[in-house]
Amino acid sequence: MNKVKTIGVLTSGGDSPGMNAAIRAVVRTGIAKGMRVIGIRRGYNGLINGDMIEMNLRSVSDIIHRGGTVLYTARSPEFKTEEGLQKAVSVCKEMGIEGIAVIGGDGSFRGASDLSERGIPCVGIPGTIDNDVSSSESTIGFDTAINTVMQMVDKLRDTTESHDRCSVVEVMGRHAGYIALHAGIAVGATCILVPEVKVDIEKEVIPKLQRIHRTGKKHFIIIVAEGIGRVDEIAKLIEEKTGIESRPTILGHVQRGGSPTVQDRLMASEMGYYAVELLSKGIGNRVIAVKDNKIVDYDIHEALKMKKPFETKLYEIAHTISI
Ligand code: ADP
Ligand code: F6P
Repeated sequence: MNKVKTIGVLTSGGDSPGMNAAIRAVVRTGIAKGMRVIGIRRGYNGLINGDMIEMNLRSVSDIIHRGGTVLYTARSPEFKTEEGLQKAVSVCKEMGIEGIAVIGGDGSFRGASDLSERGIPCVGIPGTIDNDVSSSESTIGFDTAINTVMQMVDKLRDTTESHDRCSVVEVMGRHAGYIALHAGIAVGATCILVPEVKVDIEKEVIPKLQRIHRTGKKHFIIIVAEGIGRVDEIAKLIEEKTGIESRPTILGHVQRGGSPTVQDRLMASEMGYYAVELLSKGIGNRVIAVKDNKIVDYDIHEALKMKKPFETKLYEIAHTISI
């Protein structure tokens, strides 16, 4: 018999493909263990406002292949205040919610830790396209996002090549360069600009383009992680200094949508299952993560203190093979 009778599930922060597969796994595992599962809508806002619905086996049918999140998501400034937190705790008590699976990033895990400390055990499941959760090698949605970027840049390459141009492409990632680095290698980018490595565009990127141009290459793809600088300005500078006609492209929120890949569906299903294993025993203040390709769990505080090393070797490889 489980100690716990009712759990909740919510998605928080930016959505990511595979969140639905994680919701499905949480709901089905919870029900299989004889618990009630409450779907909390629009992240922590739903907890504060009591915007929730009891889930059943059929409420998560036909969602494993869909991007987005059927529970909707939000960023909740109110939840960061003590008053907001207390409201959330009271709603949990009223609804009999004894544990919550929180699907989101490190920000959402900070909220999960605050709730756990106030008597509502929470388990975090890493869901973000940015892959920037400090404790996990992988996050739900990253694989789909880099595949989406690859497909879009492949299309862009066609027209870039036809016109002998340089395309300067901005990708998402918040403060991290994982999307840029992984997708950049996959599309054969000439340069990949990420926040983790400082690069002087005038002194490094321009001379590299000029050098490669002299070897006979006439079209170029440059991948720029958001926050590095404006891609329209970078494109203008490249055109001015090299004479290569250049165009900026911002891929934008299309990167966050679409049907999740096998890898994201699989990881989301496993993570949802393991989160409920913990919650059913009344265990909270944990996050689920991937370490050495295996699913593990950590104390939230420890997880948030971890430092995810930047993939220096991968960056070096990208640099070596883009000449
Ligand atoms: P992510 O979870 O993807 O990192 P955010 O940083 O936007 O996304 O956080 C999502 C939500 O988590 C915030 O809107 C807020 O409700 C909650 N949150 C973020 N940071 C904290 C914090 N330091 N303390 C409590 N709650 C937080
Ligand atoms: O965290 C996911 C993410 O898509 C980041 O890559 C990006 O910086 C941010 O969310 C965009 O947020 P919004 O949806 O509020 O524009």
